[in-house]
Amino acid sequence: MERKWWHKKVAYQIYPKSFCDSNGDGIGDLRGIISKLDYLKELGVDIIWLSPIYCSPLADQGYDISDYYNIDPRFGTMEDMEELLAEAKKRDMHILMDLVVNHCSDEHEWFKKACEDPDGKYGKYFYIKDYKDGKLPCNWRSYFGGPVWEPLPGHPDKCYLHVFHKKQPDLNWENPELREEIYTMINWWLDKGLAGFRIDAIINIKKALPFKDYPADRDDGLAPIQLMLKEATGVGEFLGEMRDRTFAKYDAFTAGEVFDEKPGDLPLFIGDGGYFSTMFDFNETTFGKSDLGWYAATRITPDDYRNRCFESQRKIGDIGFLSNIIENHDEPRGVSFYIPDGEVTPTSKKLLATMNVMLRGLPFIYQGQEIGMENMEFTSIDQIDDIATLDEYEVSIKAGLTPEEAMKVASLHSRDNARTPFQWNDKAHAGFTTGTPWLTENPNYTRINLESQRNDPDSVYQYYRKLTALRKNPEYAETVVYGECIPAWEDRHNLMAYYRKSSEKTLLVIGNYQTEPQTVTIPQELKKVVLNNLPTLVRDGKTLTLAGYQAVVLEV
Ligand code: GLC
Repeated sequence: MERKWWHKKVAYQIYPKSFCDSNGDGIGDLRGIISKLDYLKELGVDIIWLSPIYCSPLADQGYDISDYYNIDPRFGTMEDMEELLAEAKKRDMHILMDLVVNHCSDEHEWFKKACEDPDGKYGKYFYIKDYKDGKLPCNWRSYFGGPVWEPLPGHPDKCYLHVFHKKQPDLNWENPELREEIYTMINWWLDKGLAGFRIDAIINIKKALPFKDYPADRDDGLAPIQLMLKEATGVGEFLGEMRDRTFAKYDAFTAGEVFDEKPGDLPLFIGDGGYFSTMFDFNETTFGKSDLGWYAATRITPDDYRNRCFESQRKIGDIGFLSNIIENHDEPRGVSFYIPDGEVTPTSKKLLATMNVMLRGLPFIYQGQEIGMENMEFTSIDQIDDIATLDEYEVSIKAGLTPEEAMKVASLHSRDNARTPFQWNDKAHAGFTTGTPWLTENPNYTRINLESQRNDPDSVYQYYRKLTALRKNPEYAETVVYGECIPAWEDRHNLMAYYRKSSEKTLLVIGNYQTEPQTVTIPQELKKVVLNNLPTLVRDGKTLTLAGYQAVVLEV
């Protein structure tokens, strides 16, 4: 595997709307982000991915772009963006934007022109079809519920395709002219000094054509879009072309949001010279998910979590680098999801951090994860803003759940859990805004906030700093970054352990993923306890007794 400048880095995702509001309008903004760069540096962050800040009606919180070349005034101005790039550069930090090109907004001028003249140039930028005898061109269900087809405004005989929300019309990648537009836009941003992009929902750009029905799985007569994605071939031609025409010329860093890739595709996607630098490992977040909806999902256990992590590590081997996440803006808070209910404590949060960040790959920390922000516990659907959660609530009700049961499901899985404002301090609205936040802050901010953790050497935050520092410590970096990941004691219940082994050193990462203590006898001499989430480690020679949720990194 070829070595790259970004391998040794630590990446961080900012969800701008909820990070830091500098002007009191209740919405986070670029100036707020600039004001926190020193903080991120202190945490050990080098690469920052900004969720979308382009002009957008915010139907899907910016993942519906109406102008790729401008900053939405709610987030700031182009000057603010340029200042952010310059300030990041001064600190040796790299900024990524979100590249959302499977679809745009129905308020983008391309779509408006397509509505004016569906047979003209811009009509061909989208998938526009005639209704045949009043029937939809095919029965795919959109990710956010309902059919993927929506009547084309002004043309009752026609409809357009949207695999996400109806305000997110899909762009027609089969059209070379559209692809050109996108490459021009990407290069325009890279010329501005962006380090690269996180690439949204990219597998969807290739449709299995011609449109056809798949077997329906609910009584709405619709079929999950995954059935179509399984049959679609040739996405690599688009991705390879995009890489060659844009990223490759700039040595840009790209992190793909890739679901449903075909078996054996990893080398093409993120091997040497692949379509992307890296892609996210969603093997844990997707565990137990069902095409039927959130209500039918199986809750992940500590053993499942371990097994899914190791499955990914084995799959990737030395092909490239996956990006490891505990959560992102589309997921509930990881500590509330991966730690059994009632066992979420600073110690168990540190265990989860250790297990994830020490894996081979690039760690991506999601805003607030570093202080152990938790799920919100929503009790009424009126508290929810997210379109996916609103749809899933309806799906649960239709499946026969009571409103209380449906709310429980929505609350556990809701994307809004990750979108509540960052908890900076214990002042009003967690210090996020002087106005009214667009989404209510989690009331636990008086207990969980950065300010108190910054002053506490035992806090989750200070522990994250130790983890990022270890990745950069010249003594251990080679092993932490490039060392082979070798699972250990895989059949032990509620134990997650693995070696990181380089030619220089061997580290052994062990986590006791339960409240009861657990004993392990290590085969090697213990040279040094490099990291420990508790003050002590009980040992008798090579036999270690780990307390509940104790996690250690040992040099052996
Ligand atoms: C990606 C984004 C998600 C968005 C969707 C549609 O999955 O992460 O937030 O809703 O794409 O753009």
